[in-house]
Amino acid sequence: MKVLIVGSGGREHAIATSVAKSPRVDKIYCAPGNAGIGQIAECVPIGAMEFDKIVAFAKENAIDLTIVGMDDPLVGGLIDELEKEGLRAFGPRKNAAILEGSKAFSKDLMKKYNIPTAAYENFDNPDEAIAYLETATFPIVLKADGLALGKGVLICNTLEEAKEGVKSIMMDKAFGTAGNRMVIEEFMTGREVSVLSYVDGKTIKTMTSAQDHKRAMDGDQGLNTGGMGTFSPSPFYTAQVDEFCKKYIYQATVDAMAAEGREFKGIIFFGLMLTPNGPRVLEYNARFGDPEAQVVLPRMKNDIIEVMEACIDGKLDEVDLQFEDNAAVCVVLASDGYPVKYDKGLEIRGLENFTGKDGYYCFHAGTKLDGDKIVTNGGRVLGVTAKGATLQEARANAYAATEWVDFDNKYMRHDIGKAIDEA
Ligand code: AMP
Ligand code: GLY
Repeated sequence: MKVLIVGSGGREHAIATSVAKSPRVDKIYCAPGNAGIGQIAECVPIGAMEFDKIVAFAKENAIDLTIVGMDDPLVGGLIDELEKEGLRAFGPRKNAAILEGSKAFSKDLMKKYNIPTAAYENFDNPDEAIAYLETATFPIVLKADGLALGKGVLICNTLEEAKEGVKSIMMDKAFGTAGNRMVIEEFMTGREVSVLSYVDGKTIKTMTSAQDHKRAMDGDQGLNTGGMGTFSPSPFYTAQVDEFCKKYIYQATVDAMAAEGREFKGIIFFGLMLTPNGPRVLEYNARFGDPEAQVVLPRMKNDIIEVMEACIDGKLDEVDLQFEDNAAVCVVLASDGYPVKYDKGLEIRGLENFTGKDGYYCFHAGTKLDGDKIVTNGGRVLGVTAKGATLQEARANAYAATEWVDFDNKYMRHDIGKAIDEA
């Protein structure tokens, strides 16, 4: 079969790597892809938001399955556009992708269906938000309602900071129309865990857990980023935590969406915080995490195409989802200056060192071909992933492999997975 993947990051490279392992797949296309994806797929110069072109390409090339990796096209309704033309596509329709697309929607859903999350209020009006803050306890969390590249969350320690935050989100529109509405919620403490799951509208099967490192610098200092590294599984995601989440969060979310007439098919990513009062949902995403996908997918034993088709056909209950009994760590190699300002177009050397190395992956996040060279083309450049029998071994392997590649401006965190030692 012929598969089209929509997206261009490390997540899409990890998805493409899994798809390439399926014996059922003859040909992979990626729109728009990157230099690494181009080694296993044919990249086509169509942007992820160019819906008409994607649909036309899928029709002309008789694509059997389109996999949408990114949040923007999902929230914008790309799945609906493909389905209208009778094309098979993996991901939630627009009316279900709102689970990620609107934080106000997801908070209201959790409240209505008693799914554990932080206490909150939604606001359309900045004056009302400020009046509410006058009587609130601090720290407090402000969230732009819509998609904001993971940056629309402000943790405010004082009333002054929070007032500035409301101004920046709702009046100055620092995150564009994402800030037309805002959620103000209780500040929670605890460890964060990412749990990704496959969903077919009724049945949910969770994948192995992972933990991301969102801050740019060691010791969780610096600005929030898309993610600087991950490890899987999380030793803090115990059997007891899993039991709680199965009872109160996972199936409850799928059932809530169905009850609202918003049947969810695709990936639900549960961003959880393990608070002293038990697990709480921090956020939902309607797609694989990036870089969570880079540590979770290499450990999945199943044929990803079979699992995705089961989701589309409502037959996920027939799938026995299995993960390897090992661990993986991903260290992101970024361009120094990310997430603010950084150079692009720098030559990447040593990529060939990954060829034929079992259990090692060099996922491309921001790269492109420049003549016969591969150059940097984004803030997050590569995701170096390694497996190991234990988390400690996987981490040592991943850091060793970060030395195999080089580019001017190469920057990474040196404490990815440090928390493992505290477990
Ligand atoms: P989100 O995009 O909602 O996951 O938020 C980004 C990050 O902000 C999370 O990964 C947390 O580290 C932090 N955060 C979000 N909501 C809260 C909260 N209610 N309490 C404490 N930290 C939070
Ligand atoms: N790594 C977090 C995300 O993909 O949203």
